[in-house]
Amino acid sequence: MKRIAIFASGTGTNARNIIQYFHANPDVSVECIVCNNEHAKARDVANEANIPYYLISKKDLHETDHVVKLMRESEIDLIVLAGFLWLVPETLLQAFPKRIINIHPALLPKHGGPGYYGMKVHDSVIKAGDKETGITIHYLNEKYDDGQIIFQKSIPVEAGDTPETLAQKVHQLEYEWYPKIIGQLLAS
Ligand code: GRF
Repeated sequence: MKRIAIFASGTGTNARNIIQYFHANPDVSVECIVCNNEHAKARDVANEANIPYYLISKKDLHETDHVVKLMRESEIDLIVLAGFLWLVPETLLQAFPKRIINIHPALLPKHGGPGYYGMKVHDSVIKAGDKETGITIHYLNEKYDDGQIIFQKSIPVEAGDTPETLAQKVHQLEYEWYPKIIGQLLAS
Protein backbone atom coordinates (compact mmCIF):
# COMPACT_ATOMS: atom_id res chain seq x y z
CA MET A 1 0.00 0.00 0.00
CA LYS A 2 1.35 3.44 -1.01
CA ARG A 3 0.21 6.49 0.87
CA ILE A 4 -0.28 9.98 -0.53
CA ALA A 5 -0.70 13.30 1.25
CA ILE A 6 -2.21 16.13 -0.79
CA PHE A 7 -1.25 19.72 0.03
CA ALA A 8 -4.01 21.97 -1.28
CA SER A 9 -4.99 25.48 -0.34
CA GLY A 10 -7.47 26.53 -2.95
CA THR A 11 -10.62 25.05 -4.38
CA GLY A 12 -9.15 21.58 -4.20
CA THR A 13 -10.62 20.32 -7.45
CA ASN A 14 -7.41 18.45 -8.29
CA ALA A 15 -7.40 16.97 -4.79
CA ARG A 16 -10.97 15.74 -5.28
CA ASN A 17 -10.10 14.31 -8.69
CA ILE A 18 -7.04 12.47 -7.33
CA ILE A 19 -9.08 11.02 -4.46
CA GLN A 20 -11.75 9.80 -6.89
CA TYR A 21 -9.16 8.32 -9.23
CA PHE A 22 -7.59 6.17 -6.50
CA HIS A 23 -10.80 5.46 -4.63
CA ALA A 24 -11.21 1.89 -5.85
CA ASN A 25 -7.48 1.15 -5.97
CA PRO A 26 -6.45 -1.04 -3.02
CA ASP A 27 -2.75 -0.24 -3.56
CA VAL A 28 -2.99 3.53 -3.15
CA SER A 29 -4.48 5.50 -0.30
CA VAL A 30 -4.93 9.26 -0.10
CA GLU A 31 -4.25 9.60 3.61
CA CYS A 32 -4.87 13.27 4.30
CA ILE A 33 -5.15 16.81 3.01
CA VAL A 34 -2.79 19.45 4.36
CA CYS A 35 -3.97 23.03 3.93
CA ASN A 36 -2.70 26.48 4.86
CA ASN A 37 -5.94 28.39 4.41
CA GLU A 38 -8.86 27.83 6.74
CA HIS A 39 -11.29 29.22 4.15
CA ALA A 40 -10.16 26.88 1.38
CA LYS A 41 -12.65 24.43 -0.06
CA ALA A 42 -9.99 21.76 0.42
CA ARG A 43 -11.53 21.16 3.83
CA ASP A 44 -14.85 20.14 2.24
CA VAL A 45 -12.97 17.78 -0.05
CA ALA A 46 -11.35 16.08 2.94
CA ASN A 47 -14.69 15.88 4.77
CA GLU A 48 -16.45 14.38 1.75
CA ALA A 49 -13.71 11.78 1.42
CA ASN A 50 -13.70 11.18 5.16
CA ILE A 51 -9.96 11.65 5.46
CA PRO A 52 -8.00 13.79 7.94
CA TYR A 53 -7.56 17.48 7.19
CA TYR A 54 -4.63 19.29 8.76
CA LEU A 55 -4.59 23.07 8.82
CA ILE A 56 -1.03 24.33 9.16
CA SER A 57 0.45 27.76 9.73
CA LYS A 58 3.57 29.22 8.15
CA LYS A 59 5.24 28.77 11.51
CA ASP A 60 4.28 25.07 11.63
CA LEU A 61 5.84 24.59 8.23
CA HIS A 62 8.95 26.73 8.49
CA GLU A 63 9.88 26.93 12.14
CA THR A 64 8.95 23.53 13.52
CA ASP A 65 9.17 19.91 12.44
CA HIS A 66 5.39 19.55 12.85
CA VAL A 67 4.73 18.77 9.18
CA VAL A 68 7.70 16.39 8.82
CA LYS A 69 6.45 14.51 11.88
CA LEU A 70 2.90 14.45 10.55
CA MET A 71 4.06 13.01 7.24
CA ARG A 72 6.27 10.41 8.95
CA GLU A 73 3.54 9.38 11.38
CA SER A 74 1.14 8.95 8.47
CA GLU A 75 3.84 6.89 6.65
CA ILE A 76 3.49 9.04 3.55
CA ASP A 77 5.24 7.83 0.39
CA LEU A 78 4.45 10.78 -1.85
CA ILE A 79 3.48 14.38 -1.10
CA VAL A 80 1.38 15.84 -3.89
CA LEU A 81 0.99 19.60 -4.13
CA ALA A 82 -2.20 20.71 -5.85
CA GLY A 83 -2.60 24.45 -5.53
CA PHE A 84 -0.39 24.87 -2.47
CA LEU A 85 1.16 28.31 -2.74
CA TRP A 86 3.90 28.28 -0.11
CA LEU A 87 7.48 27.20 -0.59
CA VAL A 88 8.35 24.03 1.28
CA PRO A 89 11.31 24.20 3.69
CA GLU A 90 14.56 22.32 3.28
CA THR A 91 13.73 20.08 6.26
CA LEU A 92 10.68 18.65 4.49
CA LEU A 93 12.50 18.41 1.14
CA GLN A 94 15.32 16.49 2.79
CA ALA A 95 12.94 14.20 4.66
CA PHE A 96 11.17 13.32 1.37
CA PRO A 97 13.78 13.46 -1.40
CA LYS A 98 12.17 13.06 -4.84
CA ARG A 99 8.94 12.33 -3.05
CA ILE A 100 7.30 15.77 -3.26
CA ILE A 101 5.73 16.83 -6.54
CA ASN A 102 3.85 19.84 -7.84
CA ILE A 103 1.72 20.65 -10.86
CA HIS A 104 1.97 23.96 -12.67
CA PRO A 105 -0.67 25.13 -15.17
CA ALA A 106 1.77 26.07 -17.97
CA LEU A 107 4.80 24.75 -19.79
CA LEU A 108 7.70 25.50 -17.45
CA PRO A 109 10.16 27.15 -17.46
CA LYS A 110 7.88 29.69 -19.12
CA HIS A 111 5.24 31.44 -17.02
CA GLY A 112 6.54 30.12 -13.72
CA GLY A 113 8.31 31.39 -10.63
CA PRO A 114 7.28 33.80 -7.88
CA GLY A 115 3.94 35.48 -8.59
CA TYR A 116 2.87 33.05 -11.31
CA TYR A 117 -0.20 31.36 -9.91
CA GLY A 118 -3.89 31.09 -10.76
CA MET A 119 -5.13 33.31 -13.59
CA LYS A 120 -1.84 35.21 -13.65
CA VAL A 121 -0.30 32.23 -15.42
CA HIS A 122 -2.93 32.15 -18.15
CA ASP A 123 -2.88 35.97 -18.52
CA SER A 124 0.84 35.70 -19.10
CA VAL A 125 0.44 33.01 -21.77
CA ILE A 126 -2.14 35.09 -23.67
CA LYS A 127 -0.07 38.29 -23.38
CA ALA A 128 3.02 36.50 -24.66
CA GLY A 129 1.07 35.33 -27.73
CA ASP A 130 2.22 31.75 -27.16
CA LYS A 131 0.97 29.17 -29.63
CA GLU A 132 0.74 26.46 -26.98
CA THR A 133 0.29 26.02 -23.26
CA GLY A 134 -0.21 23.01 -21.01
CA ILE A 135 0.80 21.46 -17.73
CA THR A 136 4.08 20.65 -16.02
CA ILE A 137 4.47 18.09 -13.25
CA HIS A 138 7.78 18.46 -11.45
CA TYR A 139 9.70 17.52 -8.34
CA LEU A 140 9.78 20.21 -5.74
CA ASN A 141 12.88 22.10 -4.73
CA GLU A 142 13.52 25.19 -2.64
CA LYS A 143 12.44 27.62 -5.39
CA TYR A 144 9.08 28.26 -7.02
CA ASP A 145 8.36 26.07 -10.06
CA ASP A 146 12.01 25.15 -10.48
CA GLY A 147 12.47 21.46 -9.68
CA GLN A 148 13.24 18.71 -12.16
CA ILE A 149 10.47 18.22 -14.70
CA ILE A 150 8.76 14.82 -14.65
CA PHE A 151 6.07 15.31 -17.29
CA GLN A 152 4.62 17.93 -19.61
CA LYS A 153 1.58 17.89 -21.86
CA SER A 154 0.75 20.68 -24.25
CA ILE A 155 -2.37 21.94 -25.97
CA PRO A 156 -2.67 24.62 -28.64
CA VAL A 157 -3.67 28.16 -27.78
CA GLU A 158 -6.43 28.81 -30.28
CA ALA A 159 -7.73 32.01 -31.81
CA GLY A 160 -10.33 33.39 -29.43
CA ASP A 161 -8.82 31.77 -26.34
CA THR A 162 -8.86 33.95 -23.23
CA PRO A 163 -7.19 33.41 -19.86
CA GLU A 164 -10.53 31.95 -18.72
CA THR A 165 -10.86 29.42 -21.54
CA LEU A 166 -7.22 28.42 -21.09
CA ALA A 167 -7.77 27.95 -17.36
CA GLN A 168 -10.64 25.56 -18.12
CA LYS A 169 -8.74 23.58 -20.74
CA VAL A 170 -5.63 23.34 -18.60
CA HIS A 171 -7.67 22.17 -15.61
CA GLN A 172 -9.06 19.36 -17.76
CA LEU A 173 -5.51 18.34 -18.69
CA GLU A 174 -4.59 18.36 -15.01
CA TYR A 175 -7.51 16.10 -14.15
CA GLU A 176 -6.56 13.69 -16.91
CA TRP A 177 -2.83 13.47 -16.25
CA TYR A 178 -1.97 14.27 -12.63
CA PRO A 179 -3.47 11.06 -11.15
CA LYS A 180 -1.91 8.93 -13.91
CA ILE A 181 1.56 10.35 -13.32
CA ILE A 182 1.13 9.96 -9.55
CA GLY A 183 0.21 6.31 -10.13
CA GLN A 184 3.29 5.82 -12.31
CA LEU A 185 5.59 7.40 -9.74
CA LEU A 186 4.16 5.25 -6.96
CA ALA A 187 4.63 2.12 -9.05
CA SER A 188 8.23 2.90 -10.05
C1 GRF B 1 -3.99 24.12 -10.51
O1 GRF B 1 -4.21 24.83 -11.68
C2 GRF B 1 -2.53 23.79 -10.38
O2 GRF B 1 -1.86 23.71 -11.59
C3 GRF B 1 -1.97 24.92 -9.58
O3 GRF B 1 -2.99 25.26 -8.70
C4 GRF B 1 -4.26 24.97 -9.29
C5 GRF B 1 -5.08 24.27 -8.26
O4 GRF B 1 -6.40 24.13 -8.71
N1 GRF B 1 -0.74 24.55 -8.94
P1 GRF B 1 -7.51 23.40 -7.86
O5 GRF B 1 -7.56 24.07 -6.51
O6 GRF B 1 -7.10 21.96 -7.76
O7 GRF B 1 -8.75 23.59 -8.66
